[in-house]
Amino acid sequence: MATKKAKSAKVTQQKSKTGESVRILISRVRLQKRITEMAREIRKDFPGEPLHLVGVLKGAVFFLTDLAKQIPGNVSLDFIAVSSYGSDTHTSGQVRLTRDLDSSIEGRTVIVVEDILDTGMTLQYLLRVFEQRKPKRIRIAVMLDKPERRIAPVHADYVGFTIPNEFVVGYGLDYAERYRNMPDVGVLTLGPGSKTS
Ligand code: IMP
Ligand code: MG
Repeated sequence: MATKKAKSAKVTQQKSKTGESVRILISRVRLQKRITEMAREIRKDFPGEPLHLVGVLKGAVFFLTDLAKQIPGNVSLDFIAVSSYGSDTHTSGQVRLTRDLDSSIEGRTVIVVEDILDTGMTLQYLLRVFEQRKPKRIRIAVMLDKPERRIAPVHADYVGFTIPNEFVVGYGLDYAERYRNMPDVGVLTLGPGSKTS
C-alpha cells in the first residue's frame, strides 16, 4: 500500500533519525535505460576495439559494472582510488591517489568511468596521471554532470544526466559512506541533527 502511494505521488522519501531525507531525482529504470544508450554509443565510437574501463573507487562501481555489461566485445576493467580532502558534502580540491591501477595503460583505449563530474578537480588530476602513462587515447564517461560547480576545465565525452547544483546520493554516491547502495539517485536534504561541515 505504502509503495503504491509513493509511486502515484512520483516522490519517494527516506527519513532517518537525524532528519535527513532523500527525494528521488533519477529512478533506477531511467538510470539503466540511459546506461544502455551510453554503452551503445561507446561501442559505436570504437567498433571492434579493445576497451579498458577504469573505474574510480568507490562511487563509480555501480555505474561501471552496469555499463561494462552492456558494451559488447573486448572489455577489460581496472580500478583506481583517490581521496579529496574536505567535508562530506564539499571537496577542497586537493586530490591524492590512494590505490593505483593493477596494469599498464600504455597503448590502450582507456575509458575513465566516474560517478559524478562536479568541480572537475578529481578528473583533472587523474587525466594528468594517466596521460603520462602514454595510453592510445583517453575518454571520460560520467553518470552525472553538475556543470554549475565546475572549476577545472574538464569535459566528459559521455554523460548520463546533467543535474542541477544539489547534493545527490545513491547509485554509488555517498554521504559519509552511506546511501551508496540506494538503486536510484536522490537529492539529500540534511536534517537539524546532521553534521554539515
Ligand atoms: P570533483 O572533483 O569536484 O569533480 O568531485 C568528484 C567527486 O566528488 C565525486 O567522485 C564524488 O565522490 C564527490 N561528489 C561530488 N558531488 C557529489 C554529490 O552531489 N554527491 C556525492 N558525492 C559527490
Ligand atoms: Mg567519487
